[in-house]
Amino acid sequence: MPIDLIVGAQWGDEGKGKIVDLLSNGADFVARYQGGANAGHTIVIGDKTYVLHLIPSGMLQENTICIIGDGVVVDPDALLEEIEMLASHGVSVKGRLFISNKAHVIMPYHKLIDTLRENRAQQSGQNNVIGTTGRGIGPAYIDKARRIGIRMVDLLNIESLKTKITSNILEHNEIIEKIYNQNPLNTKDIVEKYSNYRTSLGKYISDTSLIIDKARKDNKCIIAEGAQGALLDIDHGTYPFVTSSNPTAGGACTGLGIAPTSIDKVIGIVKAYTTRVGNGPFPTELFDADGTELARVGHEFGATTGRSRRCGWLDLVALKYSVMINGISEIALTKLDVLDDFDSIMVCTEYILNDNKLDYFPASSEILEEISPVYKSFRGWNSSLNGIRNFDDLPENAKIYISFIEDFVGAKVKLISTSPSRKDTITVF
Ligand code: GDP
Ligand code: IMO
Ligand code: MG
Repeated sequence: MPIDLIVGAQWGDEGKGKIVDLLSNGADFVARYQGGANAGHTIVIGDKTYVLHLIPSGMLQENTICIIGDGVVVDPDALLEEIEMLASHGVSVKGRLFISNKAHVIMPYHKLIDTLRENRAQQSGQNNVIGTTGRGIGPAYIDKARRIGIRMVDLLNIESLKTKITSNILEHNEIIEKIYNQNPLNTKDIVEKYSNYRTSLGKYISDTSLIIDKARKDNKCIIAEGAQGALLDIDHGTYPFVTSSNPTAGGACTGLGIAPTSIDKVIGIVKAYTTRVGNGPFPTELFDADGTELARVGHEFGATTGRSRRCGWLDLVALKYSVMINGISEIALTKLDVLDDFDSIMVCTEYILNDNKLDYFPASSEILEEISPVYKSFRGWNSSLNGIRNFDDLPENAKIYISFIEDFVGAKVKLISTSPSRKDTITVF
């Protein structure tokens, strides 16, 4: 059976958690393919709210098996905390969680250097503060690319693990002491701590590409879950204000060990407006009462760091680009309810740079900072979408808004979400 791929189409926090959970109902496997505990995926079930950082959003469907793929960077502490959190709500991961032996491990020096670098950039007043989540993501992917990273499989071989950690700490301590003027980390403590993960995490470590291959051959239903969003992609996003992995569709192939030909649909999760956490260009960002209202009604605070999310109108130039680079074949449109009380709703259809029209998404963050968005205005629907379960029952102005998005970006809206809850979702036939 072909794999369905779910990607965030903007700058993250589009509502992937809710939609992946929903689509996992009936799925046999959900596999996360990149990122780490920088992600915060919220799932609301009844009066309970779960925020998952590493564990795939399929875990709350009783029979779904969850895979943390090769492309993920795993923070063992964060993962154990998440497993415990789920257990405290009566959700057991036993027999349902598999972690790739090839996934890289986040080490204490990754988290420390992530924060030290950000603080230093901030203090020196340079224009290169990314606003990372401080979860060690960039430094861990750096070590992966430098070919010195520690992988999950290494946690199973204590002797070689000790050697690898010791030489890595030597190197990273030099950075910590010489560049950042901080006290070095204690090798013995870290070796001891990481040696113990064999006991707590060893049972989850497997060759997950084999599991996925077998599942495909057995005709199982498999969902690939992305974290972050296309515009945070290290290759295709607003570089350097991006994360250090590939949330775009291609990342699923390398991050799970699957072939492009095994993917059927690419479902893009699109928030009905735009948000961004951290720094970097954001052409449609609002600094007025409308922006404040989007943040208030949408409860736009980061699920991982609690930071306020920057808010703005839907940027269709950016979204069209995202549809193109991901091959998005259908859209799940989330948080449409947040627009309920706006008299007029804007969407950006073009950028203007030095009096010239740009109808594509530029590569340069400096140019993106300079452009002015051109908006098309829509009449709001000024009524609550609460309780609407059929597309036909949506207010006419909401239908006009949706139809314009579809035509502009060239992908059909197949799901519409109108609250955090599973039940407030409209399937479009
Ligand atoms: P993710 O990172 O893409 O999974 O998204 P987050 O969980 O970080 O942020 C999305 C937020 O919006 C969460 O608090 C969700 O519970 C909430 N949410 C999801 N869908 C909807 C929706 O349709 N309407 C509203 N009002 N909230 C939603
Ligand atoms: P989910 O999966 C929104 C942002 C950070 C920062 C940049 C780099 O919940 O959508 P990093 O810690 O990855 O090095 O930070 O990326 N960022 C996210 N923004 N949602 C996320 O994940 C994010 N993960 C990272 O704010 O700007
Ligand atoms: Mg999030």
